[in-house]
Amino acid sequence: MAIRYDEERRIFKLDTKHTTYIIGLTPEGYVGHAYYGDYMESGDVFYLLRTGERPLTPSALPREKSSFLDFFPAEYPTGGIGDYRESCLDVRGSAGCRGCEILYDSHRIRKGKPKLNGLPASFGTEDETETLELVCVDKVLNLRVILSYSVFEEEDIITRSVRLINEGEECLRIEKVLSACLDMDDEEFEMVTLVGGWARERGVQRRRITYGKQMVSSAKGESSHQEHPFLALVTPQTTEQQGRVYAMNFVYSGNFIAEAELNQHDAVRMVMGINGEDFCWNLRGGEEFQAPEVVLTFSGEGFGKMSRSFHDFYRKHLIRSPYLHKKRPVLINNWEATYFDFDTEKLLDIAREAKKAGIEMLVMDDGWFGKRDNDDSSLGDWTVNEDKLKGGLKYLVDEVREIGLEFGIWFEPEMISPDSMLYREHPEWAIHIPGRQATQSRAQYVLDLSNPEVVDYAYECVAKILRSAPISYVKWDMNRQLSDLGSSYLERDSQQELFHRYVLGLYEMQERLVSEFPGLLLENCSSGGGRFDPGMLYYSPQIWCSDNTDAVERLAIQEGTALIYPLSTMGAHVSDCPNHMTGRNTPFETRGHVALAGTFGYELDITKIPEKDREMIPGQIKDYHKYNELIREGDYYRIASYRENHKYDCYLVAAKDKSEALMTFVQVQCVPTFHGKKIKLLGLDSKAVYRLEGTEQVYTGEMLMKGGFIIDFVQGDGMSRLYHFVRQSEDHIKK
Ligand code: DGJ
Repeated sequence: MAIRYDEERRIFKLDTKHTTYIIGLTPEGYVGHAYYGDYMESGDVFYLLRTGERPLTPSALPREKSSFLDFFPAEYPTGGIGDYRESCLDVRGSAGCRGCEILYDSHRIRKGKPKLNGLPASFGTEDETETLELVCVDKVLNLRVILSYSVFEEEDIITRSVRLINEGEECLRIEKVLSACLDMDDEEFEMVTLVGGWARERGVQRRRITYGKQMVSSAKGESSHQEHPFLALVTPQTTEQQGRVYAMNFVYSGNFIAEAELNQHDAVRMVMGINGEDFCWNLRGGEEFQAPEVVLTFSGEGFGKMSRSFHDFYRKHLIRSPYLHKKRPVLINNWEATYFDFDTEKLLDIAREAKKAGIEMLVMDDGWFGKRDNDDSSLGDWTVNEDKLKGGLKYLVDEVREIGLEFGIWFEPEMISPDSMLYREHPEWAIHIPGRQATQSRAQYVLDLSNPEVVDYAYECVAKILRSAPISYVKWDMNRQLSDLGSSYLERDSQQELFHRYVLGLYEMQERLVSEFPGLLLENCSSGGGRFDPGMLYYSPQIWCSDNTDAVERLAIQEGTALIYPLSTMGAHVSDCPNHMTGRNTPFETRGHVALAGTFGYELDITKIPEKDREMIPGQIKDYHKYNELIREGDYYRIASYRENHKYDCYLVAAKDKSEALMTFVQVQCVPTFHGKKIKLLGLDSKAVYRLEGTEQVYTGEMLMKGGFIIDFVQGDGMSRLYHFVRQSEDHIKK
């Protein structure tokens, strides 16, 4: 049993394989956080709440209630009643005052995990997970607050979410509803977040936590390029293999906050949820509000274990696509090959050449619809541009399939160009503030997805095209953030629901898409990786990682992404050089090695690249077929980070049964010390004997992990090597 309630001690004990989480109920019904960390046999730790030591509990000392609230480690702190740290729930009642206090009412422990209404969320069978629902109430507001915890023992993951039910008649204004909180006061922590911008998504940032609040957030309407819905608090010496890591990741694709706060008592509060900025939800009598889910993990063995817990969890309990455990077709995308300048003949030329090289799918990117020859127009007008695609879309798809490739297509369904038929007909469908000229970004506005009619229209545009031809893949793009928040559909006092309703509309569209086209391979994208989050992974098994396809830059982007997300989710392509964004030249071989760590594909004009590069493609595709299962399903270990050392990068993927491992070494900047460079491997079976493929050299796992492996030196910047270690059978070793 993963969840137990000790009635006498009023303690809930949540156990995973290596971790324990303990919740305690005070006599008054305050729900306290007693412990989270390494697995503990005994749950008898109510004393950790220190309610006895400092008799500040409201029943013992009502005159010091505020001191109690500001000190007590709360499971779900509420605002306006004397806890001055970040609250998780701010409610304004019918009298117009903000204040909420929730006390334990009842609980339920059940096998499995219920779905979250309208939201993406993890799932598990009755054998894989158990759920605790802690029901708390605020009797003054008539508000029921259900705190849900699902425990995934195998993966060392606990998920948390919150449901609010207005049991009264008056409307409650929910001004903030976060999904999880962790109050801790036993360590000094550093804070690790993922930050960056367009074309440099998810760089790892680490800093000391100081007094006050520090956070990452998004108020852009998407999870964003700049800051990421992830937060880890780590002990100062934490490395890949050592140290204590508490991490949260948000299953949501809109505005978020992820915050750490160090207070006067040297206690740290860590919270995550929907950003309260420009959020307010009218919860009318009898209505419910479901807040999205936070995925929580603790690792006592550094970042490596944290990443592998997230990877296993997302592969097993979040991503639903039938492609999850399959090799994705090797695709060629025409974006960096042609941008908007293509027609049927050009695409067929690419397809013919691609087929010869062993590529399996052609993806037609932006520019095939309306009168779109650049990014100034036509979003919303999803009719095929027959000046470019002579004979129509079906003809092109049939021809491509005749050549022997599958066909994929690009959409940006959430957008509307001011220069479009749709805008001329329905200007009110664009998000805008009445009387104010809405801000354009990439010459486009955002559709108001809070309006069901707009959701229906936008979905049907996509679906009609997919019904018209045998299309195997969709790239769903989103190229601007939200601004000028105003909806012509929502009532005046519901305007602050728009950000969240937008995300719900998006999820509804994607849910419809995967239900109507269950065989479709969906890749999400947002100007590269601006919406790479667990929410989107619920619908698509892969997300375009970044518009930056430079192999060197990708090392850092993919490393930051893989801190949380499985390699199988990272859209990665080999592109042409000099790289269109950085102007950098890297060997074609290295570009292939780096893209192998993701979904793998090409994004170049195969009819124009140098002959010697084209000749390498069949070999790269052979490597993809050979190693993809290992990369997709295996355990990922970071060995050296170019982001940190500015010279080289090294990572390894080991099979779950440790029968093989593939190590990638990229020498970004060649320095003389690479001559005879020693690398210590990770993740092998120390007792097993491994042969380095292509050689007769054998090593024990222990030799490779403790002693190290000497890389073969080659001169030159940007060179890379793949090393495949294969465990030898007993017989082979004896011989
Ligand atoms: C942004 C994407 O990230 C690119 O790959 C490409 O699809 C363009 N949009 C097209 O407009």
